Amino acid sequence: MIKTVFSGMRPTGRLHLGHLVGALQNWVKLQDTHRCVYCIVDWHALMGEYEHSENIKSYVYDMAADWLACGVDPQRSIVFVQSQVPEHLELQMFLSCLTPLGWLERNPTYKEQLREITTRDLQTYAFLGYPVLQAADILLYKANAVPIGEDQLPHLELTREIARRFNSMYACEVFQDCAAILTPTPRLLGLDGRKMSKSYQNTINLADAPEEIAAKVKTMFTDPKRLRLKDPGHPDECNVFAYYKAFVPARESEVRDWCEGAKRGCTECKKILAEALVEYLRPIREKRSKIVADRGYLDAILDQGALRAKAIAVATMQEVRKAVFR
Ligand code: TRP
Ligand code: SF4
Repeated sequence: MIKTVFSGMRPTGRLHLGHLVGALQNWVKLQDTHRCVYCIVDWHALMGEYEHSENIKSYVYDMAADWLACGVDPQRSIVFVQSQVPEHLELQMFLSCLTPLGWLERNPTYKEQLREITTRDLQTYAFLGYPVLQAADILLYKANAVPIGEDQLPHLELTREIARRFNSMYACEVFQDCAAILTPTPRLLGLDGRKMSKSYQNTINLADAPEEIAAKVKTMFTDPKRLRLKDPGHPDECNVFAYYKAFVPARESEVRDWCEGAKRGCTECKKILAEALVEYLRPIREKRSKIVADRGYLDAILDQGALRAKAIAVATMQEVRKAVFR
């Protein structure tokens, strides 16, 4: 039987190159082999951004446009917004009842976020339960495979534990086991060499205009040991080279040669990269701008996705209620 993939992203800002190579390219490929369900998880966004909820709606549209522009195909895949399918919350309630507090309090992602995020108050009831809603997302569609980043592995493990606990507590087989699909590509760093993240302002966004891309690439850090043009460079230690490998693989050996042989300087190397990135993103940018110009089209896609998601969700919830209130 064809396997179901489920994944979600929080609408908290524009998507960038890291999302493209770290997730979206993989999502697009999975459409050839799986039934895919891709969810814009606005409730998960709200858990962190409840004080600035006014931005979430526009980020939902941005995200839908970014996904479609990158090749997520709403004909083949189910593309929808979490809050349009309230069954997610209903299942979260059932799962919350049997999830021990200790599992949530021990969750490494939770502890790390409480420690690191100081600009928002995350000491809330909902935020502790973040992984329970994530488990509900996945289990509602009986997904077998969940493409995620490594940072999400503890949440997937919790999902599996919650599913097993449900099945054994109610002596049923409502939920299946699920496995992570880790993205094969190595992590792309931000312009400054730190983790790529909106909060560091070190991203190239899918919607960036060509001039923005050029200006951003200019600021990229290069091999620190290559101070002058005649110093040979070390491409494997240079973030610019990592971008060539990810986006312009056809020129990889040429760049290695001019860098190690001190034939061209970093300024020129970056200028060529910028031009290549502009070209690389051109089809995405063009498709994206057509999509955002037609809000009605996006609404229709998302409404239709929600209907298709709902059909599956309703059936699962019938089984869940029957297993619990038997
Ligand atoms: N927690 C995920 C993240 O921040 C987003 C998410 C919510 C998700 N529900 C999901 C991912 C279900 C995969 C499956 O990246
Ligand atoms: Fe990096 Fe290019 Fe400079 Fe080499 S020439 S150090 S690859 S920017």
